[in-house]
Amino acid sequence: MRVVIQDNYDKMCKWAANYIAAKINNHKEDRPFVLGLPTGSSPIGVYKELARMNKAGELSFKNVVTFNMDEYLGLPHEHDQSYWYFMHDNFFDHLVDMDPANINILNGMTDDPEGECARYEEKIASYGGIDLFMGGIGVDGHIAFNEPFTSLASRTGVRNLTTDTRIVNSRFFGNDPEAVPAQALSVGVGTVTDSKEVLILINGHNKAKALAETVEGSVSHKWTCSALQMHNGAIIACDEAACDELTVGAYKYFLDIEKKERL
Ligand code: GLP
Repeated sequence: MRVVIQDNYDKMCKWAANYIAAKINNHKEDRPFVLGLPTGSSPIGVYKELARMNKAGELSFKNVVTFNMDEYLGLPHEHDQSYWYFMHDNFFDHLVDMDPANINILNGMTDDPEGECARYEEKIASYGGIDLFMGGIGVDGHIAFNEPFTSLASRTGVRNLTTDTRIVNSRFFGNDPEAVPAQALSVGVGTVTDSKEVLILINGHNKAKALAETVEGSVSHKWTCSALQMHNGAIIACDEAACDELTVGAYKYFLDIEKKERL
């Protein structure tokens, strides 16, 4: 696992955006580059930087197909807290050459959630899998909506959200945890770890425990992010504040080893 420690949130986002752009630009296969994407506050700076590069002609999304991680069950596209709305508002609407047909987001209004999730897995497979999955992390270590004790082998499916997650996410729903949908559709931990590369953004002091568990904890379904330890192409991009609970040895190791790494 690589852990790339940056001074602050802006630098973390620039690093991640540069990494993603280089992967897309260097993709020479005659199939599209398949990019997995998250919502949440963590990736917003990355989306801004990718959109800037796209407008400046430094990066094209013509040959990119995207799959989002998750979506609340029961929220229509036009609801300003649906992840469909978030993705268009924060990213897709700012790109000059993204083909809407290449955007894949689970449909939270489906009347057949299980079928919707099975079709999503099939569609990912039809492109030959995901090249790079960018993600965020919950304070309890969830990736996508894979809450603690979700199987590390899980696939795309319906998830019940924990009270903790509904409380944390209530900041977007008038601070009312009951207003946060109780269920979501989400890619599985196994769906994420099947990707060729996984890039997880972890920033802020409130994610320090989750970062420490991801990097130094045991592999456990209690911290679903810890599954990344079993992945051969996992990168954590983080800021200094998120490192507060790493051991000094681990912190120094990653700073030292990254001096020798190149993008
Ligand atoms: C939600 C999403 C996750 C995301 C997490 C963290 O629960 N389902 O995919 O990683 O929030 O969000 P933030 O980046 O705002 O802390």
